[in-house]
Amino acid sequence: MGLELLSSPLQQPGVAPPDGVLIRTHDLWKTYEMGDTQVHALSGVSFEVQRGDYLAIMGPSGSGKSTLMNLIGCLDTPTRGEYWLNGRLVSELSDDELAYIRNKEIGFVFQTFNLLGRSTALHNVELPLIYNGTPAEERLQRAREALQRVELGSRMHHRPNELSGGQRQRVAIARALVNNPSLLLADEPTGNLDSATGLEIMALFDRLHQAGNTIVLVTHEHDVAVRAHRIIHIRDGKIDRDERTR
Ligand SMILES: Nc1ncnc2c1ncn2[C@@H]1O[C@H](COP(=O)(O)OP(=O)(O)O)[C@@H](O)[C@H]1O
Ligand SMILES: [Mg+2]
Repeated sequence: MGLELLSSPLQQPGVAPPDGVLIRTHDLWKTYEMGDTQVHALSGVSFEVQRGDYLAIMGPSGSGKSTLMNLIGCLDTPTRGEYWLNGRLVSELSDDELAYIRNKEIGFVFQTFNLLGRSTALHNVELPLIYNGTPAEERLQRAREALQRVELGSRMHHRPNELSGGQRQRVAIARALVNNPSLLLADEPTGNLDSATGLEIMALFDRLHQAGNTIVLVTHEHDVAVRAHRIIHIRDGKIDRDERTR
């Protein structure tokens, strides 16, 4: 382990990565057309993430973090380049196939929690299972288990406005986990929390990582990034630095 994870010279375009590699991007570009000018939001980004790793993507505003996050999360497709997720080449899938992969492979955690305000914690956590047709009884059981994993077993029937910010984010994390996704993808997960609550959420990510989850989080906060085991710094749509912190 170590250096070979940090560089990409061995990457072979068109060839699936080995099983230990959950994410591989090869020369990923995203170009937006703005009238007659082109904005290169990403310019040739190549990296790999091993299964079980904990990665932070850091960079200043406008550096391409959200663009990269949208590609990793299968919310968008690259202009050019390859993206492999869990052995599948997702850069060439249709919108329907992307929707399927998003539901099955990825648990999303957002800065603004994105919960349904009128639904209980339990129902919010059940939602991804409703979308993929899991039978009701199994759904309930798995949603309860996911809420217990984030220590909200006693708050299952509360609605978001009856929960604190930290509890709301934990509901969102339970929802992200309920499908046992291969990747937990978080976008500024502590951005709307006070610092003490932010630390609690980061401690929960530590535990989830120790339990075997692969985590990629995007942040502009150094204190958050250093909790990860590896930090990729991006600048002007390129990887500026790739450091392993432990
Ligand atoms: N839909 C879009 N259309 C045009 N330009 C965009 C679009 N989305 C992002 N960009 C541009 O791409 C660059 C990277 O943006 P973004 O990925 O949002 O950066 P970050 O999340 O790091 O702030 C910026 O210059 C931004 O203006
Ligand atoms: Mg952004």
